[in-house]
Amino acid sequence: MNWDPSAVVVKNGYKILLGRLIGEGTYAKVVEGIHIASMQRVAVKVCAKISEKREASIRREIEVMKRLNGHPNVVRLYDVIEEEKAFFIIMEFVEDNLLLMMDRQASGLSEMQAKKIFTQLVDVMSFLHTKQVVHLDVKLENILWDPRNQRICLCDFGMSQFFEEDKTLKGICGSFGYVAPEVLLNKSYNGITTDTYSMGVVLYTLVFKCFPFDDRTPADRICAQLQEANNPDAYGRASLDLSMRQLTPELQDLLHQLLTKDVSKRLTIRQVRKHPWLRKPSLLERLFSMRRPYVLNQRPSF
Ligand SMILES: Nc1ncnc2c1ncn2[C@@H]1O[C@H](COP(=O)(O)OP(=O)(O)O)[C@@H](O)[C@H]1O
Ligand SMILES: [Mg+2]
Repeated sequence: MNWDPSAVVVKNGYKILLGRLIGEGTYAKVVEGIHIASMQRVAVKVCAKISEKREASIRREIEVMKRLNGHPNVVRLYDVIEEEKAFFIIMEFVEDNLLLMMDRQASGLSEMQAKKIFTQLVDVMSFLHTKQVVHLDVKLENILWDPRNQRICLCDFGMSQFFEEDKTLKGICGSFGYVAPEVLLNKSYNGITTDTYSMGVVLYTLVFKCFPFDDRTPADRICAQLQEANNPDAYGRASLDLSMRQLTPELQDLLHQLLTKDVSKRLTIRQVRKHPWLRKPSLLERLFSMRRPYVLNQRPSF
C-alpha cells in the first residue's frame, strides 16, 4: 500500500486519501475519504490481507458490521471495497473518540456526565447482545464521540464474535487494562460478561480518568491485572473501595458488580440495564452526582 501523503485511490465513487491518517490500531489504519457525489467526508478502514487467517477475520468484522448497521450508536457502514490485497471499509466519519475526549479533561467526569455516556453504551451493548454479537474489545479508543450530538458510536468490530447462548469462547481478546481476568487466565469465557467487565473499566476511567488497576505502562497494567486475577481475594475490594468512596453508593455498587472477578456474580447487560444507578435520579441525587470525584493522586492518569 502506498501511504504517501499525496496518495489517492478512487473507487466506487469514493476518493480515499491514504496519506490522511485518522487513527491506527493493531491491525489497520483508518484514513480520510470523500464521497465524491455528495462531497461528504467518510472514514476508510484499510485492512491488508496479510494472511488467510487475517482475511477471514476481516470478513467476520464486515459481517458483524452489516448485522449491526442502522443502530444510532454503531458506526454506520456505507460500503466495502475488496481488492486483491486489501479491504477498504467505508464508514461514517465521527470526529472524536472517548480517549481523546478524556485526554482534554482536567479530571474525571461528574457522575451525571458519565451517566449520559454510559447509558448510551448500555443501549448499544444491549443491542449487540440481542443480535448475538459480543464485541470483546470495548475500550475508550473504540468508542467514537460525536460532540455535536453528544452521541457515542461504537466501532472496531475486529475482535467481535457471533455467539450462541450456551457456547463458550477461548483465546486472547481485548486490550491491556480492559481485559477480563478469566481471559487473562486463559480460561474459557462467555463473551457477555467479558464485555460487561470492560464496560466497568470504561465507566471507572470516565469518572476517575485513570484505570482501576495500576497502569504506568501497558506492561505494568497487565502485571497488575494478572496479580489481581490470581489473588483469591481480588478484586482487592479494599483498593477499589478506597478509591470509590467518593462516588454515590449506587455507582460504587455498579462498579463492584462489573469489575468483580467472579464471573457468576458479574452483571450481564440485561442486569446492568436495571441497575439503580441507571434509573432516573431524584433531584437530590442529581445535585450530588453533578460533583466531580476527587482526583486520585496515587494513580497516574492517562
Ligand atoms: N468511523 C470512524 N470515524 C473516525 N475515526 C475512526 C473511525 N473508525 C475508527 N476511527 C479511529 O481509528 C482508530 C483505529 O480504528 P479501529 O477500527 O479501532 O482499528 P483497529 O482494529 O486496528 O484497532 C480508532 O481508535 C478511532 O480513533
Ligand atoms: Mg481499535
